[in-house]
Amino acid sequence: MLRRLHPDQPDSFAFTPANQAWAEAQIAKYPAGRQASAIIPLLWRAQEQHGWLTRAAIEHVAGMLDMAYIRALEVATFYFMFQLQPVGSVAHFQICGTTPCMLCGSEELVKVCREKIAKQPHKLSADGKFSWEEVECLGACSNAPMAQIGKDYYEDLDADSFAKLIDDMAAGKVPTPGSQKGRFASEPLGGATTLKDYTGQAQNGAVALASGSGDTLKRIDGTEVPLVAPWTKHARCDGQPMGGEVAEMTKPANSEAAPKAKCDSASLRAKEEVANPAPKAAVVEPAPEVAEEKPEMLTEARGTPDDLKKIKGVGPKLEGTLNALGVWHFWQIASWTESEIAWVDTRLKFKGRIERDGWIEQAKILADGGETEFSKRS
Ligand code: FES
Repeated sequence: MLRRLHPDQPDSFAFTPANQAWAEAQIAKYPAGRQASAIIPLLWRAQEQHGWLTRAAIEHVAGMLDMAYIRALEVATFYFMFQLQPVGSVAHFQICGTTPCMLCGSEELVKVCREKIAKQPHKLSADGKFSWEEVECLGACSNAPMAQIGKDYYEDLDADSFAKLIDDMAAGKVPTPGSQKGRFASEPLGGATTLKDYTGQAQNGAVALASGSGDTLKRIDGTEVPLVAPWTKHARCDGQPMGGEVAEMTKPANSEAAPKAKCDSASLRAKEEVANPAPKAAVVEPAPEVAEEKPEMLTEARGTPDDLKKIKGVGPKLEGTLNALGVWHFWQIASWTESEIAWVDTRLKFKGRIERDGWIEQAKILADGGETEFSKRS
């Protein structure tokens, strides 16, 4: 299938402050020069924020990661998790049409979509609430046929149960994800023949996390339990360590202790935290604010401009940004004070990059005519 940008595009995109902080924490996971590795989570969060992935959002993320726009566009158009056109305001249905699901009745699900939503995929329903598409195997073949709806899987579907799901969602209900035929996980339909002890759980871990979030259809908007990122100064908004809530969220949804509004749509986040629990000591105080001061800028290069890409962490896009600000030479960067770094930092797309990559130290060596390990290779 051709995946193209939608003809009607908004003019601009910017992350909300909460999502911006989250995005910076993602970027900080990667070593200097490897920030592009954060492309998928950032594009995903941009999509969650806006509903679908716009050209402006792709360009914005490419800029944050100092990537050529075409590289970001390649990622966005390759993965069908990224929606390049408006989707239903309540749900976008991704129906698996690969062989096991097809043999078990996925064509009936597509028929329901055509009748209840729109005749063609990627078109909005008349009320704008729903859209659908057929996708390749989503990895839940044993519970075929299935569909991904929002962030969750709905399995063991048939035409009737799928039509009811759509009706329920249209009525404002949030159906429970997982098997629609009562399977705990992917055991035989007749019941488990081995590993029969579910230790009293009503739902498997994934379904319990999704149900515990209270609203699995709601898009992530940064108000969820924030990511504790021990590698940066980001912590949850109220300054408290994670741990207890995640444990609560792993309880079955029918547990009285299952949290509701506070953990909206945090199932993915919770899974990440369960897998990599953050140590309490990782919750750090916010860094003190440094007053900003504009460093000396030039209207043009003095003679031949320096190749700023010799500084580790500066790519072609960032070099262009620095030139536009009036930075053309190593000696300029080498002379920046802490407050001048803060000024430049603010005008780049995210803070901390200059210090983290050691621009000043590198620039001093290069300004003196020396070479760094990085510049020798570049
Ligand atoms: S074939 Fe449908 S999930 Fe694999």
